[in-house]
Amino acid sequence: MRIGVLTGGGDCPGLNAVIRAVVRKGVEVYGHEFVGFRDGWKGPLEGLTMELGVPQVRGILPRGGTILGSSRTNPLKVDNGVERIRENLDRLGVDALVAIGGEDTLGVATALAVAGLTVVGVPKTIDNDLGATDYTFGFDTAVQIAVEAIDRLHTTAESHHRVLIVEVMGRHAGWIALHSGLAGGANVILIPEQPFDIDGVCRYIEQRFASHYAPIVVVAEGATPKAGTIAQQEGELDAFGHMRLGGIGLLLEREIEARTGYESRQTVLGHVQRGGTPTAYDRVLATRFGLHAIDAVHGGESGVMVALRGTDIVRVPLEEATRELKTVPVERYAEAEVFFG
Ligand code: F6P
Repeated sequence: MRIGVLTGGGDCPGLNAVIRAVVRKGVEVYGHEFVGFRDGWKGPLEGLTMELGVPQVRGILPRGGTILGSSRTNPLKVDNGVERIRENLDRLGVDALVAIGGEDTLGVATALAVAGLTVVGVPKTIDNDLGATDYTFGFDTAVQIAVEAIDRLHTTAESHHRVLIVEVMGRHAGWIALHSGLAGGANVILIPEQPFDIDGVCRYIEQRFASHYAPIVVVAEGATPKAGTIAQQEGELDAFGHMRLGGIGLLLEREIEARTGYESRQTVLGHVQRGGTPTAYDRVLATRFGLHAIDAVHGGESGVMVALRGTDIVRVPLEEATRELKTVPVERYAEAEVFFG
C-alpha cells in the first residue's frame, strides 16, 4: 500500500514520535510505502508532499513539533475541497491516510471517511479534550512545562508578597489548568467549565496572604467570569470558527490588584507549552498510537481512531471521537477545590 501521513491543527510534542512509529512499522513489518503531506489538510488539498521513509524518521523521536508541518486549513470550507483531496490522492497513488490531529483535523477525517476515502485517525492535543480517549499525547508535556513554571513563580511570589497569575492554554477545557494547578499547589484554579466569581477569587487570595503564603492563580485561557460581573473576552475567529484567546490573565491581574490592594503580576505561558521535547510518557503513548494506527490501516480499516482506554490502545469510530469535547467534570474540579484558599 501507499499511505499518506499528515499532522493538522496546533502542533504538540509527540507528533514526530507517532510519525516515526507509523513509518517504521509500516515499512519494516508490513512493507508499505509512505508519502508525507505537508501542513495539515493543506497538503492533500494542494498536493504538497515530501518524501517519508525510514531515513526521514531517524532521530526524530525526542524532537518537538512535526517534520511534516501543520496548519489549521479546513478543506470542508474550501470549494470542492473533498473532491480536490480525492483527485490528489488518486494522482499520487495514495490508498489510505493517517491523520494525526485534534477535534478539527479529525472532524475533517470523519467527513472524508464518510465520503469513501480510507482514513485512520490518531488523537493529538495538549488540551486533552478529545472524547473517546483517556489521554492525548502532548498533554503530559504541557502540564510538566506549566508545573515547572508554577514552581518557579512560587519563589518570586513569596519574595515580593505578590499575587502571581499563570495563564495556561485550554480554550474549552481546563485539563491543563486543573492538572498543573493541582501538581503546582495553586491557590485557586479557574477553568472554562466553571465561570468564576471574582469576589470568591479575591477571598481565596486574602486567605492565603493571611497564612503568610503568596498566592498563585492558575487560569485557563478560556476561563470566564460569571455573567454580569466583569467584561468577557473577545477575539478573531480561525478557519474552524474558534476564537483566538488570551487576555484573561491580564484582566485578573488588574481586577485582583484593584479589589485586594495586593500587587499582582500575570505570566502567560502560551506556546511554550506546545514546544520542545516530549516527556517520556508522551513519547511512549505517541509511539503506541502510531503502531496501532498502522495496524488499523494494514488491516483495511477506515473511519476509526486509535484511543487509550486504561492502559490499552483500542480503536473507536472517528464519529464517536469527534462528537463532543471531553471537558472537566464537576467532581474532578471539586477535588481541586479542597486546596483553594
Ligand atoms: O488546540 C491546541 C491549542 O494549543 C489551544 O490550547 C490553544 O487555544 C490554541 O491551540 C492556540 O492556537 P494557535 O497556535 O493557532 O494560536
